[in-house]
Amino acid sequence: MSVCPDPERFSVPEPIDLAAFPDDFSWGTATSAYQIEGAAAEDGRSPSIWDTFSHTPGKVDNDDHGDEACDHYHRWPEDVALMRRLGVDSYRLSLAWPRVVPGGDGPVNAAGLDFYDRLVDAVLEAGITPNITLYHWDLPQVLQDRGGWTARDTAEHLAAYASAVAARLGDRVTQWCTLNEPLCSAWIGHLEGRMAPGLTDLTAAVQASYHLLLGHGLATQAIRAAVPGAQIGLVTNHSTIEAASTSPADIAAATRMDGHSNRWWLDPVYGRGFPADMRELYGVELPERPGDLETIAAPLDWHGLNYYFPVTVADDPEGPVPHAREVLLPDVPRTGMDWQIDADGLEALLLRLTDDYGVRKLYVTENGSAFPDTVAPDGSVHDPERTRYLEQHIAACARAVRKGAPLAGYYAWSLLDNFEWAYGYDKRFGLVHVDYATQQRTMKSSGLRYADIIRLHRQSQA
Ligand code: IFM
Repeated sequence: MSVCPDPERFSVPEPIDLAAFPDDFSWGTATSAYQIEGAAAEDGRSPSIWDTFSHTPGKVDNDDHGDEACDHYHRWPEDVALMRRLGVDSYRLSLAWPRVVPGGDGPVNAAGLDFYDRLVDAVLEAGITPNITLYHWDLPQVLQDRGGWTARDTAEHLAAYASAVAARLGDRVTQWCTLNEPLCSAWIGHLEGRMAPGLTDLTAAVQASYHLLLGHGLATQAIRAAVPGAQIGLVTNHSTIEAASTSPADIAAATRMDGHSNRWWLDPVYGRGFPADMRELYGVELPERPGDLETIAAPLDWHGLNYYFPVTVADDPEGPVPHAREVLLPDVPRTGMDWQIDADGLEALLLRLTDDYGVRKLYVTENGSAFPDTVAPDGSVHDPERTRYLEQHIAACARAVRKGAPLAGYYAWSLLDNFEWAYGYDKRFGLVHVDYATQQRTMKSSGLRYADIIRLHRQSQA
């Protein structure tokens, strides 16, 4: 791992054109259920595929798991108070499907919904708008046992779960999101095997990608039916893709990687169907039925972009689909995930969604960085690298807005340090430090800077 070699380069405060943001710009922070809640076996929650995966030795660094995580299930009042301290307008959270419908389909678990009911009330009470994601990777294991996302039924069960949640919370929640990063569920979970359910099967991966997007469309219909005036979006993660050289082979590899990471997920949602070049490359028949493409392309109220890093690729004919090998550029700043830092990529993707896909309302639904933080003897956590990353990316958002991107909000990932999936707890993305032994929360200097940015934007409107 190469963390940025020169911390000094992070010491200059990034000028941010805050006046570019509209008055009603929404500043937020985001989390997901499995990464923070803990209470894995409480109040009727059933195991998810991430319980199974993380309890399989060797799948997660240090064999970490989400049994306790940040214990948010019990400490949520403190976490809502932290959001209040940040001064955010909105909180993007996900609900745990196995807490709400432990059987995957069928009866709703009242205790599970009660938890989210209380949380939503507390968030609203704090003057913060909840933005609820239905699915952030924690599929009930019972559904995985019946085929998971390779089965069409799972898409239908997602819609039924969406209906149950919307019926209970729709009187107070207007912001809804169906899926978080279906790319990770399909490609990393079913093709690369690095995430739950841990498969390495191209056919399963392509089927899963299709059923995830179908589930998105069906859940959109379900929420619309239950919540008049609901604002519904989809959250996808993207990278800008560069060819490692000007050779035709590397340029073709970059086109394939762009198809795999970007077009496969955006084209069908914006009415273009699944890209023909990628269908041919995968060589897997899609489980299409009449009407599916219309369901997948149902108009959305907003699109959520999760952005972390750009990708540079070279041709890799013998490598796995899409036969494009990532090339790590030397001497570029990187985060503790070894991800290249490039805020221009965020600007470029916001403009691509605007100009190429015609998106009329955008949010950056996740953006953030992991660095190995340390707690100083005085108890403070000083994280200049994360602060700089935050400033650079908010500045990039401002540039995109000046160029016409209809950006309505920005959610910093993440409120808290949390369970970073296959990397366990060593990778810390929080604006707030969590001491997992004591569950003590400490606002990092990046959190204080974010609060400052939010306050300065508000003042600039006065
Ligand atoms: O922690 C994850 C989150 O769950 C999904 N988007 C990327 C984040 C950082 O890896």
